[in-house]
Amino acid sequence: MKDLTPRKSELDPIEIASRDEIEALQLERLKWSLRHAYENVPMYRQRFDQKGVHPDDLKSLKDLSKFPFTVKTDLRDNYPFGLFAVPREQIVRLHASSGTTGKPTVVGYTKRDIDTWADLIARSLRASGTRPGDIVHNAYGYGLFTGGLGAHYGIERLGATAVPVSGGQTPRQVTLIQDFQPHTIMVTPSYMLNILEEFHHQGLDPRECSLQVGVFGAEPWTNAMRHEVEQAFDMHAVDIYGLSEIMGPGVANECVETKDGLHIWEDHFYPEIINPETGEPVEDGEIGELVFTTLTKEGLPMIRYRTRDLTRLLPGTARSMRRMEKITGRSDDMIILRGVNVFPTQIEEQVLATGGLANHFQIELFRAGRMDAMRVHVECTPDATDEASKTAAARMLTKRIKDIVGVSTEIDIKDPGEVERSQGKAKRVVDNRPKE
Ligand code: DLL
Repeated sequence: MKDLTPRKSELDPIEIASRDEIEALQLERLKWSLRHAYENVPMYRQRFDQKGVHPDDLKSLKDLSKFPFTVKTDLRDNYPFGLFAVPREQIVRLHASSGTTGKPTVVGYTKRDIDTWADLIARSLRASGTRPGDIVHNAYGYGLFTGGLGAHYGIERLGATAVPVSGGQTPRQVTLIQDFQPHTIMVTPSYMLNILEEFHHQGLDPRECSLQVGVFGAEPWTNAMRHEVEQAFDMHAVDIYGLSEIMGPGVANECVETKDGLHIWEDHFYPEIINPETGEPVEDGEIGELVFTTLTKEGLPMIRYRTRDLTRLLPGTARSMRRMEKITGRSDDMIILRGVNVFPTQIEEQVLATGGLANHFQIELFRAGRMDAMRVHVECTPDATDEASKTAAARMLTKRIKDIVGVSTEIDIKDPGEVERSQGKAKRVVDNRPKE
């Protein structure tokens, strides 16, 4: 893998500014953002008044903890445009996430918000090792999802060449990679595995392809997966994080030279970690739920938005801005099985560590008598399809999950191609338990 570390002169000065400078900027912007939300969004005014707090009460960054949280249902309750802080005519773009139940979550951007977003994707790409002039294959879905278009404008902002492929049509993805010779690919990690498989189908060696960097996000993935993809393609795999409510992709990004967690672009988003049960902020270094306050968003300011993502804050390394550890899961994805908390990423780690198994798996939850139970459907590799290999792999995976994760599972070893493939965000858990 090539050294793709950007030169200091290529970075935005604030990325390597002193902590004092960053915090001074955050305080100034936070005051603006609280006032903007209070003055223009009835829900915020009501909530602040109810709690007896006013934007003027914020004297230091720590004072933010006096302000109320915002949660996903607040967006639903104010569907579609009720939380916008500017007249609707000033919103130049809408995005929405489908959500599994009920109404989608709608988000809106002013011209300046779109501009900031493009800047931050460009910054994220630079951190990933992409430079002006590079070709970027963008396989995040275009449309209402923030991934495709969000990434697209940032690629152009960087001065790179955007290939707006979107998701799906996997054979064509491989053809385009072969023909256009992109330097960077932007895609969900689970769909990258699908693309990898297609390389093999077409008899191509992925290590010979032009890709130098993959910028993977929109779903949790492990360092074990990073290793697997880096080896398979002989390229760097870096993590990009974001969520629609806060902006979309590009809220935080790993640096290619360190790959030690994601630097949060703290000049635009103020992070906190809270104890999800009590709502109390915890110290940097402690795991909890990630909460963001937007510092510059005009269209849809978010004050203390509870992401449900679990991680911890760490000091800056390659940049002065703080890092968040790779996300292990969302509180909503957590499976509680006979009292043990299990995240799909923990199963991913064990699948990847077991010989004879491919990286395609799905977790099924079902009811066995009066107990909840879990079955892992996972494919064997093409060279391990005989019964003896399958039995050995199943035994090994059962043992690893029991010993390391701490739960008993059934394992169902499938033949290559039998587990559903991801076209974007992978569906890792299928819940077949009877609805109460
Ligand atoms: O997934 C935005 C995005 C697009 C991020 C492309 C990165 C790349 P939503 O659809 O609103 O937005 O989903 C946001 O996805 O709260 C996390 O639970 C999860 N997520 C996003 N990035 C990561 C990541 C986009 N790098 C939700 N690691 C978030 C783990 C991630 N989970």
